[in-house]
Amino acid sequence: EKGGWSSFMRKEVSEQPEAVAKTLLGRVVDDQVVIPELESFGDDELRGIRRITVIACGTASYAGMVAKYAIEQWARVPVEIELSHEFRYREPVLDDHTLVVSISQSGETMDTLMAVKYAREQGARTISICNTQGATIPRESDAVVYTHAGPEVAVASTKAFVAQIAALYLFGLHLARVRGTLSAEEIAVQLHELQAVPEKLELVLAESEKVAQLAHWMADTRSVLFLGRHVGYPIALEGALKLKELAYIHAEGFAAGELKHGPIALIEPGQPVFVVVPSPRGSATLHPKVVSNIQEIRARGARVIAIAEAGDAAVLPFADEVLRIPLAAPLFEPLLAVVPLQIFAMELSQAKGLDVDQPRNLAKSVTVE
Ligand code: M6R
Repeated sequence: EKGGWSSFMRKEVSEQPEAVAKTLLGRVVDDQVVIPELESFGDDELRGIRRITVIACGTASYAGMVAKYAIEQWARVPVEIELSHEFRYREPVLDDHTLVVSISQSGETMDTLMAVKYAREQGARTISICNTQGATIPRESDAVVYTHAGPEVAVASTKAFVAQIAALYLFGLHLARVRGTLSAEEIAVQLHELQAVPEKLELVLAESEKVAQLAHWMADTRSVLFLGRHVGYPIALEGALKLKELAYIHAEGFAAGELKHGPIALIEPGQPVFVVVPSPRGSATLHPKVVSNIQEIRARGARVIAIAEAGDAAVLPFADEVLRIPLAAPLFEPLLAVVPLQIFAMELSQAKGLDVDQPRNLAKSVTVE
């Protein structure tokens, strides 16, 4: 079933261009989003939504965090993300103007399922983003938008993550049309960006060898930090999660702007830090701030590995390694920047002789609390 690949994870990482393409297939027609699965949500109802609460766990929650930036920017509706197990044990404020969007690859995560049930009991309407046809969470939701990443076998979620972002972006653009917050032309521009992602993912994958080498040099590393800003922040969290679960290395992700509020105290000579650098073209305000963060940690001896757009020369004097991603609009960068981080964790796991597909203590779907 691995089709010649040494692990399911390696196969699934390589299938990411296809996972995004298949999730978009048939859903973009004449530069418009078409999601028949959402028919039960009339346009009036979507216009009446005052707030979106996203519930998910682990990697799925980071897909939700990425989508928050896009949905708020495009559809001008507040989006909050909450871990399912936190959500269901407090008294969240929900009403029939709250839309609850759950994200789950397996569609069986117990905490997310219970959170969806709870939300419905409280009168909220629910949509699930799910990769498994007929799973329990979609059955318990008012509507489901399936990701078409294909079966994900490795415990570490990879292709499901990029497919979740693609599906959430489609939903965000659909919402923007219905709510009149973007023009047809603006929606078409975003859809073209989204449709260009699979090809760009191929280019990122073509650079895998450089990431693999880096991981092999770093096989003895005991702690790695990840920094990102805006949509790069959830990618930093995802990079850290991948490294913990696959290589059993202490890893933490931070919002780069938080550095001075504490984390910079962790920096000592030799400390590896991955920095997800926003595009100098697309994020003219944030790019210099992240570059100055890089200078600050470098001055304290950090070993900086920058994930930066092709042609971004500003990082060169300060980064020890630069992993390049193709040019993309800011909201689409996370779909590309996550890939080197997945590969880094996978290769480090392999370099340490660990089981990449089945890390210790973990299960593919967490069907217990
Ligand atoms: O099946 P789900 O998407 O609901 O699973 C959620 C998390 O358990 C999952 O993403 C987990 O964090 C992965 N092992 C991360 O790689």
